[in-house]
Amino acid sequence: MAESMGFLKRTDMCGSLRKEHVGKKVTLMGWVHRRRDHGGLIFIDLRDREGIVQIVFSPQVSLEAFKKAESVRSEYVLAVVGEVRLRPEGTINEKLSTGEVEVYADQLIILNEAKTPPFVIEESEEVEEAVRLKYRYLDLRRPELQRIIILRHRITKSIRDYLDRAGFLEIETPMLTRSTPEGARDYLVPSRVHPGEFYALPQSPQLFKQILMISGFDRYFQIVRCFRDEDLRADRQPEFTQLDMEMSFVNEEDIIEVVEGLMSYIFKENLGISLNIPFPRITYEEAVNKFGTDRPDLRFDLELVDISDAVVKSDFKVFSDTVRRGGQVKGINARGCGSYSRKDIDGLTDFVKGFGAKGLAWFIITEDGIKSPIAKFFTQQQLDDIVEKMKGEKGDLLLFVADEPKIVAESLGNLRLELAKRMNLIDKNKYEFVWITDFPLVEYDEEEKRWDSKHHPFTSPKEEDIKFLEQDPSKVKARAYDLILNGIEIGGGSIRISDRELQQKIFKILGLSSDEVKEKFGFLLEAFEYGAPPHGGIAFGLDRLVMLMAGRDTIRDCIAFPKTQSASCLMTQAPSKVSEKQLRELGIKFC
Ligand code: AMO
Ligand code: AMP
Repeated sequence: MAESMGFLKRTDMCGSLRKEHVGKKVTLMGWVHRRRDHGGLIFIDLRDREGIVQIVFSPQVSLEAFKKAESVRSEYVLAVVGEVRLRPEGTINEKLSTGEVEVYADQLIILNEAKTPPFVIEESEEVEEAVRLKYRYLDLRRPELQRIIILRHRITKSIRDYLDRAGFLEIETPMLTRSTPEGARDYLVPSRVHPGEFYALPQSPQLFKQILMISGFDRYFQIVRCFRDEDLRADRQPEFTQLDMEMSFVNEEDIIEVVEGLMSYIFKENLGISLNIPFPRITYEEAVNKFGTDRPDLRFDLELVDISDAVVKSDFKVFSDTVRRGGQVKGINARGCGSYSRKDIDGLTDFVKGFGAKGLAWFIITEDGIKSPIAKFFTQQQLDDIVEKMKGEKGDLLLFVADEPKIVAESLGNLRLELAKRMNLIDKNKYEFVWITDFPLVEYDEEEKRWDSKHHPFTSPKEEDIKFLEQDPSKVKARAYDLILNGIEIGGGSIRISDRELQQKIFKILGLSSDEVKEKFGFLLEAFEYGAPPHGGIAFGLDRLVMLMAGRDTIRDCIAFPKTQSASCLMTQAPSKVSEKQLRELGIKFC
């Protein structure tokens, strides 16, 4: 039976009790984490968001409370009045922050009962995720998830504190708006008042933040929900949160400086970690060449090495023909992995085939020279050249892929990560930031047979490349930058185009007709004519940042109510069907 808490007032949080509270009379409220009956004594671990404390029920202290405690089950909600005492010698629990003390109860109120939960609220994550997401309110009771959600609050608070002090203003922008082109599909909301018309939920506040610069709200930020209907992964959700920023009268250096200051502050404040700034910078081209990706994980090396020159004249046709056809041969030195078995190497071969590679050639450097089924196709000089380029030493395993550059980058970039895992090279306590700069402005979309923005259409080309815009857009570099942390893109931004004519030229290159431009972005182009300051900005994936700072592998753990891979909410069963009446009001009919 649930009892009323009446005028009882909580004095302390369970998880906050320490040695210095010994002797204090406290009133605690929380959930039963565990109950242990030791005959003469009953122990209840009482849990709230700050942690767990042990309550002791003794018939000598209160027979009534002791009797009531006998009926208590896991997850009951209790109020306990009692005295904090030092635990007897030998019973101190090092694992609990409250482990030196316990509370002797003289009053117990059962505020609510609870059904037996479908899983035990423990640190353990063995429970299937689908079950945890259905009962998210129980999952969220787990101390680990509480830690992450509280950390998330602290991180956002420190972001706001820092940016406020740096003169930034937080300004909200609409959720019901027009499409913002960030490369994903839109979530659409039908308008009842305008039958047949739709709002789009923002993929980002990009257009509004640029307009705010034109309005003079220099130094804007917003912690804002964004919506993108795209394929989901561990670090992608259909709705996610950005820390969005924009500044006027700035260049790349100004933005980088603010961001590095901000990151240093939030890492120091929340994790006590001092970051080394400035962060290293590498160009897009160098990143793809060395790491096979524009979001390299710099916690380990395993760089890709181009050996095309050394093999172009070899008798191994797979290599020489590929290079002659304009492809490349690159390799990775898996240091000390010379003892890998054929089965291990076959496993790696299948792995790279998953990224389009046709095979994986390998050399093992032994006492007696190179061991490899293809060694016979190379002269000793060629073998020596390859080993030298790869900085190979005895006991190393050299792995090679020959193909067109895109496939070489994809397959070896991913192999690099896989090897790092297998070789145990990833230090989970390390934070390696890197800026990627000099992105191409556009890339060719083979499917649609047109140029597409690498970042978004409002990104400014580098001044010195503007002359190539019309003849060869592939040569044009963008004034864009991404911030990568441990191999994950946590943010990206650019200096914007603030000139109507240049913006129109870019739209033309992207294949947008003038009617389309007018219809989609007419308001922005018009605004550019009323005094647009030079401006630029960046946006961060807040969920990703929290995930990395909390040491987790998925952003689902860092969002209170996340969605599944198929974009549904297992707790509320969203998305769901709606009534005929609602559809009629919206003028929507399904065929
Ligand atoms: P961009 O599209 O790169 O840039 O997004 C910025 C950052 O948002 C995060 N992010 C996501 N996080 C979780 N789930 C998703 N589906 C998802 N999509 C993106 C990433 C990414 O780096 N308007 C520009 C920014 C600018 O130019 O200022 C923009 O949105 O961490
Ligand atoms: P094959 O001549 O197909 O028997 O291949 C000989 C070796 O070369 C095998 O280890 C293959 O995995 C490898 N191989 C085949 N194609 C490629 C390629 N494009 N790049 C790298 N290695 C390859």
